[in-house]
Amino acid sequence: MMQEIDALNEGNVPFWLSQEATLKSLDQLVTLEKACFSVPWSRQHFHAELEGNQFSRVRIIPHPECTQNLQIIAYICVWIVFEEIRYLNLAVHPDFRRRGLAKQLIHETLDLGMRAGCCRGMLEVRKTNDMAKNLYESFNFKSYSTRKSYYTNPTEDAILMTLDPLATHDDERRDGRGNAIGSQTTIHTIS
Ligand SMILES: CC(C)(COP(=O)(O)OP(=O)(O)OC[C@H]1O[C@@H](n2cnc3c(N)ncnc32)[C@H](O)[C@@H]1OP(=O)(O)O)[C@@H](O)C(=O)NCCC(=O)NCCS
Repeated sequence: MMQEIDALNEGNVPFWLSQEATLKSLDQLVTLEKACFSVPWSRQHFHAELEGNQFSRVRIIPHPECTQNLQIIAYICVWIVFEEIRYLNLAVHPDFRRRGLAKQLIHETLDLGMRAGCCRGMLEVRKTNDMAKNLYESFNFKSYSTRKSYYTNPTEDAILMTLDPLATHDDERRDGRGNAIGSQTTIHTIS
């Protein structure tokens, strides 16, 4: 099936388009979350992000074929809190990794934060989560501190990372086949 999806990716048009999550996304978000984390967010947690948190934005990437079993293949949750965009969670279904989905979601949310007037990005990541750390570093997020035993199952330190000033690096933007499709850097600061 991935070959068919690749065939749809002809040309330099980003194939993975995200959309805002709604309450209808709840069941599928929980399913995806369970496939990606040892301590997954609960349905109640997602509900609170979607309904009870004015700062929260949840964006999803639907399955290109909308199969019944797996309708959402990736999501990201950020909080836009005044001058700061906080990255709460990000997950891509194991069958769809290394195809640029996470990068696409980070790009979109950085754009969102910049348009909302944010000047820096903040996040935490497990100390041993090299794939996520590589991803964030590719956007120039820098480690600045650790939080001892922040995570459970297994217990692990968190690395705190920041992107300050907030910027999108368009040379990192990829299409659905992982090809770079831009070369500009945009930096946003608040004086
Ligand atoms: C981390 C995660 C979101 C990456 O999603 P993805 O769609 O596969 O990532 P992308 O293809 O957009 O981006 C890949 C970049 O991330 C890094 N990366 C992704 N997977 C990697 C791996 N297995 N090993 C090393 N680096 C990796 C690389 O820098 C890569 O860039 P490259 O392809 O140019 O080398 C995904 O692996 C995932 O959902 N993991 C489980 C949940 C998780 O850890 N979430 C992060 C919480 S902080």
